[in-house]
Amino acid sequence: MRQSRKALDALAMFDFQPDPAQPKADFYREVTQAAVALTEGEPDGVANMANIAALLWQAMPDLNWAGFYRMVDGGLLLGPFVGRPACIRIPLGQGVCGTAAQSGESQCVADVHAFPGHIACDAASRSELVVPVKRGGEVIAVLDFDSPSPARFDEGDQAGIEALAEAIAARI
Ligand code: SME
Repeated sequence: MRQSRKALDALAMFDFQPDPAQPKADFYREVTQAAVALTEGEPDGVANMANIAALLWQAMPDLNWAGFYRMVDGGLLLGPFVGRPACIRIPLGQGVCGTAAQSGESQCVADVHAFPGHIACDAASRSELVVPVKRGGEVIAVLDFDSPSPARFDEGDQAGIEALAEAIAARI
């Protein structure tokens, strides 16, 4: 069996629920460790993205969408996620995701209605965090989070997800 003992043990963490009231640095350290353990030994990027999206959805409160867009043929293509069905292709530079992918910079948007060109996949979304996933300096995907609450995400969430993105970049 290819899947490592550690990944199998991680699967037993079905009730994994880090305390969202603890400092965000600690919260995201726990989530990142879980994501790394869950993907250990598995070379299939789609399977790993699916489990990471599910893990993040389970761990992070107050979300209505969590998942990946992959960079394919010079644009973003919908990847594994949890939430309502979403737009499939996003050109570089468009929307919050396309802006993050083109600039290589995370986008932390307190009010999506105030973001020029925001693409509304779910009318309930009020705030959004998009973090590029890079390998060898190239953006290979973005991690996208939507919340029905305004200003749901802050610098602590951004720093935590950026660290997670770096940790799992080789696994997707
Ligand atoms: N709101 C994103 C589109 C993707 S959905 O939120 C899942 C954007 O503006 O790029």
